[in-house]
Amino acid sequence: GQPDTVTPTGAPTGAPPEAFAQQGAYLTTAQGTRLRDTDHSLKAGPRGPILLQDHHFREKITHFDHERIPERVVHARGAGAHGVFTSYGTASKLTRAGFLAAKGKETDVFVRFSTVLGSRGSADTVRDTRGFATKFYTDEGTFDLVGNNMPVFFIQDAIKFPDIIHAAKWHPDREIPQAQSAHDTFWDFVSLHTEAQHHTMWNMSDRGIPRSYRTMEGFGVHTFRLVNDAGETVLVKFHWKPKLGVHSLVWEEAQLASGVDPDFHRRDLYDAIEAGAYPEWELGLQVFPDTPEETFAGIDLLDPTKIVPEELAPVQRVGKLVLNRTPTNFHAEVEQVAFHLGHLPPGIDVTNDPLLQGRLFSYLDTQLTRLAGPNFHQIPINRPHAPVNDMLRDGFHQHAVHGGVAPYRPNSLDGGNPFPDSDGFVDVPVTVTEAPKVRDLPVSFKDHFSQVRLFWQSMTPVEQEHIIRAYTFELGKCYEQAIKERQLQCLADIDPVLCASVAEGLGLPAPAPTAALPEVTPSPALSQVGRQWPAD
Ligand code: HEM
Repeated sequence: GQPDTVTPTGAPTGAPPEAFAQQGAYLTTAQGTRLRDTDHSLKAGPRGPILLQDHHFREKITHFDHERIPERVVHARGAGAHGVFTSYGTASKLTRAGFLAAKGKETDVFVRFSTVLGSRGSADTVRDTRGFATKFYTDEGTFDLVGNNMPVFFIQDAIKFPDIIHAAKWHPDREIPQAQSAHDTFWDFVSLHTEAQHHTMWNMSDRGIPRSYRTMEGFGVHTFRLVNDAGETVLVKFHWKPKLGVHSLVWEEAQLASGVDPDFHRRDLYDAIEAGAYPEWELGLQVFPDTPEETFAGIDLLDPTKIVPEELAPVQRVGKLVLNRTPTNFHAEVEQVAFHLGHLPPGIDVTNDPLLQGRLFSYLDTQLTRLAGPNFHQIPINRPHAPVNDMLRDGFHQHAVHGGVAPYRPNSLDGGNPFPDSDGFVDVPVTVTEAPKVRDLPVSFKDHFSQVRLFWQSMTPVEQEHIIRAYTFELGKCYEQAIKERQLQCLADIDPVLCASVAEGLGLPAPAPTAALPEVTPSPALSQVGRQWPAD
């Protein structure tokens, strides 16, 4: 037979590209030609100019010139790790998704944590929301749970996303980030678009400065729909609960860490995994009946600025996540991973939340630019662990050598007709009403303050003190007095003590509420003091 040919890495010829580890006895060009010299360019004499014919020089420099890809338009700064999800089997009556339904079933995962606003090189411990995005490589296709460490979002309709991000990222003229400088545009936006007040208070709370990725909760934010084998559906919200409990830094620690170790969270994650202290979370569900109103206890489940207090709908555990492997190559894995809310296995479906619906468009669209074309699903970190037979063809950066002559189904030339496939994805046949086309949101989306009050009143005194200090510090950075005053009016419509305390810190009068403040029932589960999850 044929003798085995070997590459410099010792990988057999024909092995997948990831086997080429850039190690070995000798160096080659990208074409595999062995090199005698990589330190000197080819010149017209020892003192002469470089010759255009020096292919190795041009290949090496050209490739270097193109090493960077665009950072993510949001969530640019992040860190990721590999792990395993183990199902408890407790969701088997709710969903046909095998990775959740089958007890003991293990599924590979990749998780990317991130800040939202900073650029790739920014500090980890700034006050911000954190991304918590999980890719489950299930046997039935990839499921991406693209969540945050806060259960609510700034806006109710995706069409406002460019606006909130423009208001919150760097200044267009100075490119100074909002996070630690002048804050006029951020506070201008959230005081004018008052649905942002709930998320803003989460940011001003200790949740905005987590101690570690390992001590953050994660939330799918939107309501999703699960469907079981019998076609029965429920509405659910996804929760990640950290085994270590929820812990934050205090502001002074966060400030110091930003200066002394801007990689504080990244280092903490990788050091812990390398030391064998694998971070763990449990996945939980809040489960609601799938009624035509899509509400629970009077709360509109399609409004992403609202939570359902855990006292009303307990979080039921369905599985465990363990992160046990750091990336081999940051660029290949953490930078090139591409999450998408539309990556759903059979058994999980979306709802009509207008923020979710817009996200379904945005992620693929941005990734077409960020990852240069339509074939980024072939990048190793993005490859499903389920068999793929997608009929997609050609395009930039095509790595597959697709066989077959008839890339359409059914066909009579090339393997026939695989449909109908009883294991295939089923879109839940939700009735779409005969209402006219409108741009307005439902009336139930108009209450912007009662859940902010709920959050505030659920905090312990020390957490309230931290919130007051955060508002005072951050608003104190605004140049425009009118913006501070408008935000104080919002605080007055949340709670008079909060408003008076921040106003005093800013040296401004405290306005009266615009209307009587309705009572709320506090939710102790929102406080992180004394909260350890899960209890063993
Ligand atoms: C990226 C979460 C709303 C557009 C991300 C990432 C997370 C996230 C975790 C980082 C993914 C990664 O690590 O690669 C959320 C949550 C939202 C939300 C929880 C609300 C509940 C939106 C909306 C839009 C949007 C409304 C646009 C309409 C984007 C874009 C990226 C991104 C363009 C960059 C994706 C990439 O370059 O791969 N988001 N997001 N997000 N998000 Fe969102």
